Amino acid sequence: MEFNIALVKGDGIGPEIVSGAVQVLEKIGEKFGHTFRFTEYLAGGCAIDACGVPLPEETVQGCRNSDSVLLGAVGGPKWDGLPGDVRPEKALLGLRSALGLYTNLRPAKLYSALAGECPLRPDIVAKGFDLMMVRELTGGIYFGERGRREGKYGPEAYDTEAYSVMEIERIARVAFEAARKRNKKVHSIDKANVLETSRLWRETVHRIAEEYPDVECVDMLVDNTAMQLVRNPSQFDVVVTTNMFGDILSDEASQITGSIGLLPSASLGATTCGMYEPIHGSAPDIAGQDKANPIATILSAAMMLRYSFSLLEEAACIEKAVDAVLDAGWRTADIIGSSTDRPLRGSEMTQKILEQI
Ligand code: IPM
Ligand code: MG
Repeated sequence: MEFNIALVKGDGIGPEIVSGAVQVLEKIGEKFGHTFRFTEYLAGGCAIDACGVPLPEETVQGCRNSDSVLLGAVGGPKWDGLPGDVRPEKALLGLRSALGLYTNLRPAKLYSALAGECPLRPDIVAKGFDLMMVRELTGGIYFGERGRREGKYGPEAYDTEAYSVMEIERIARVAFEAARKRNKKVHSIDKANVLETSRLWRETVHRIAEEYPDVECVDMLVDNTAMQLVRNPSQFDVVVTTNMFGDILSDEASQITGSIGLLPSASLGATTCGMYEPIHGSAPDIAGQDKANPIATILSAAMMLRYSFSLLEEAACIEKAVDAVLDAGWRTADIIGSSTDRPLRGSEMTQKILEQI
């Protein structure tokens, strides 16, 4: 089969990690007889430098017309001083919104080979965990009305959280469907003891839950969830929540796996064109030094094969190769722990994975 993939390398370590994933996809293409065609588009800080805007129209069109998008990371200190609507991050939010990618899947599991990197207590680590965070991605406070105004105590700023029944229903269905293919449990996260949006969220999730009697549905408040993630992460299977709560909780979930450098993500909408990116940022401090771990981006490419192209065997082949390399003890600097071995460079890690494919 043939697939057109838009590459948005972005800033910082973006170009190095995307290059690792492209090599892996090319190898998969050779092995399984597929052709992947790559076209590069600018977004983020590099687009601000080249075209004056974080998300050029050409990038939006190119991504829309592709079969899927592979993204590295955007942002860096160089652009931190810019006003909100022209910051590099605007490119990410803009692409998610323009492509209608309302679902963000962020799996977080403990690799047994890396259990030593997990910051949790050994008895908690021993139980392991494997959860799927389902974050709503195109609504809520990240897209609500915001601004500055004169308030009771002088100048103030405001951001608004709004969720429609339709937005909650469609993300809840994604979560219940995902749970059906996993361990049949959904935790729905909200702050229903305070927020009206959360009360609508809870009500709506309960209604959708009735369509899935085979899946257990548990409500949990977001503050308690932050605590439960470090206290007993093995209780979670699928976790569904709003844009902002999901942003925060998914960083926490990633950290308890031992390295944010390992975690992929998929952003999906109503069509098969999705956007796939590591959940970590652009790490400007190590950019261009070939130190960055390419695994999160390589696993994001595997998610693309699975969710957008339905190439299940090919996706599993990449995941098995990553498992094998980690089991064999190969480590980049972010996951080397207290070992005194020389860490692999990013390109060497890619090479090891290619050898396993
Ligand atoms: C993420 C990031 C983004 C978000 C930022 C960079 C806009 O933190 O993908 O989690 O908040 O969604
Ligand atoms: Mg985030």
